[in-house]
Amino acid sequence: MKQDLLTLWDLEPQEILSLLEVAAQLKQNPDHSEPLKGKTLGLIFEKASTRTKVSFTVAAYQLGAQVITLEQQNSQLGRGESYADTAKVLSRYVDAIMIRTFGQASAEEMARHASIPVINGLSDMFHPCQLLADLLTVQENKGDLSQLKISWVGDGNNMTHSWMVAAAKLGFELCIATPASQEPDGDLMKQLSTVTDKIVLTQDPFAAVKGADVVNTDTWVSMGEEDDKEALEIYQPYQLNSELLKSAKDNAIVLHCLPAHRGHEITDEVMDGPQSKVWDQAENRLHAQKAVLLRLLGRK
Ligand code: CP
Ligand code: NVA
Repeated sequence: MKQDLLTLWDLEPQEILSLLEVAAQLKQNPDHSEPLKGKTLGLIFEKASTRTKVSFTVAAYQLGAQVITLEQQNSQLGRGESYADTAKVLSRYVDAIMIRTFGQASAEEMARHASIPVINGLSDMFHPCQLLADLLTVQENKGDLSQLKISWVGDGNNMTHSWMVAAAKLGFELCIATPASQEPDGDLMKQLSTVTDKIVLTQDPFAAVKGADVVNTDTWVSMGEEDDKEALEIYQPYQLNSELLKSAKDNAIVLHCLPAHRGHEITDEVMDGPQSKVWDQAENRLHAQKAVLLRLLGRK
């Protein structure tokens, strides 16, 4: 039975931890035996990407697999061929598909009609591959995830949702501060409230960050939202700057999935400061995705 990775809901807590363990091992001791030799990964991009495109491509190459990349504008998807038909056709050629798209439903439709694993490389709702890299970065710096207080400040978006699912799966405390009009998805909140009472929503960024081990932020305007976002002034109190960071633990780490909008959601001082782990976080996409590819395409 094929396994997809559309959200972290698709993985049991133990499976998440074992992916992180494999990723950490691969980071220490890269596997030069080309375990995925002969396999082909299809990458579909309906939105821009730097890290996801390059890290998946390099991860596949280093494991011995090949990659084919389709951009929406120069594939038939851009001319209206359905996700279902595209999935059926690609399933005859490649061994797994990674799709970066808008609605989560598009990735789900792809997965329903593909006979091969489908990986969500970011949708409007979730970014599970990024979360695996983020969790790996936190583990490297802080150890046992379940004991931590993790905070999020800024927009309630696909990254926030992914952190929320991770908190429900792994049991850490997650404090989220957003402007009232930009809270995370209400249905997801409701769903998660039956699983964990450790996700807290506030409009006070200092309360969210107080005593935190990890402070996260992300762009205030995600891809696809450019035309319908309110004025950005509402986000100003949520800027991750050195004053806000002082509320966290002294040894707290700062994460940002990137790309960053310096001077908006994060200041240069914080992003380039001693607590920032953003470059390790970006590197960890490579290691985490190798673990995902090995799990879905190759050895368990
Ligand atoms: N963090 C992330 O997914 O980066 P890209 O948009 O560059 O792929
Ligand atoms: N929330 C951002 C993440 C980019 C990696 C976006 O969707 O644009």
